[in-house]
Amino acid sequence: MVTGERVLVIGVGRIGAVTAIGLAHLLHDVTGVDTNAERVEELRAGRLREAEPGLRAALKSALRLRQLRFERAVAPGDHDVTFLCVDTPPLPGGEPDLRQLFAAGEFAARVTARGGVVVTRSTVPPGTGDRLEAALRAAGRRDLAVVHVPEFLREGRAWEDFREPDRVAIGANDPAAGERVARLFTDIAAPVYRMDRVTAELAKYAANAYLATAVSFANEMADLAACFGADTDRLFEVLKADRRIGREAYLGPGLGFGGTACRRTRRRSSTSRRRGASSCTSCGRPSG
Ligand SMILES: NC(=O)c1ccc[n+]([C@@H]2O[C@H](COP(=O)([O-])OP(=O)(O)OC[C@H]3O[C@@H](n4cnc5c(N)ncnc54)[C@H](O)[C@@H]3O)[C@@H](O)[C@H]2O)c1
Repeated sequence: MVTGERVLVIGVGRIGAVTAIGLAHLLHDVTGVDTNAERVEELRAGRLREAEPGLRAALKSALRLRQLRFERAVAPGDHDVTFLCVDTPPLPGGEPDLRQLFAAGEFAARVTARGGVVVTRSTVPPGTGDRLEAALRAAGRRDLAVVHVPEFLREGRAWEDFREPDRVAIGANDPAAGERVARLFTDIAAPVYRMDRVTAELAKYAANAYLATAVSFANEMADLAACFGADTDRLFEVLKADRRIGREAYLGPGLGFGGTACRRTRRRSSTSRRRGASSCTSCGRPSG
């Protein structure tokens, strides 16, 4: 379903490129903008550093069909839905550095069309959407809604995960803005979970924390199996045969985590623990 929305993606690194190429593949009119001139040139030429099967062919096809373009700058008012896909790297203490996100938000405030929607795709701590909304209002953009659509893709399977995700989560406090964003993803055959914004923000952290816990648990069990001389493969087979655990469970011993996201969430939750868990590092509320 083509909506006629003109989409802008701010930050076309790993996640932004997949988002821009994916939305163009769904036949939306997409512009990707990045402060990194080299990255813009690379994408314009149909080149990608990432080893993501299928993604380069999709990029070339979207460029050829003129569904997608990459720029260093864009004119104000030309885009209705602006995705923020910039990085939120950890600070030395483990908390995410949101400076790039708020700088991209400032840019969105300058260029997004009246009555538009700003979508955060970066991984952000719960409550960031409220802060971004306040920043947009302070910049005189009360007309813009803020929606969160977390990215759950796996490294090495990014294109497959964009086209055939297990689910799409859309977090919006304004139902009409949520509906506009949901329509962009209509042609993806996956269950769409609509929720309020903070729940969507937390959902991404919860998914990463769960997966990180599963890997840690599997490693503990593998250590125990080694101590007792037990058969690790058989152990996990029998565990996964339990329907409460599931055959697809992310349960197997390994050296570490597959992507940056799980590692960051683990660091973030260990920071909370070090602080005695007396307050939540995201919102400062007592955590009991
Ligand atoms: N990498 C993953 O597998 C993954 C998975 C899920 C979620 N995420 C989250 O997605 C977000 C983005 O991660 P990434 O790996 O794509 O980061 P990245 O560093 O690859 O890309 C970010 C891009 O944003 C650009 N940028 C920064 N500020 C800008 C601005 N003001 N205007 C225009 N461009 C700007 C940078 O030049 C860069 O190209 C992070 O929050 C990350 O946690 C990442």
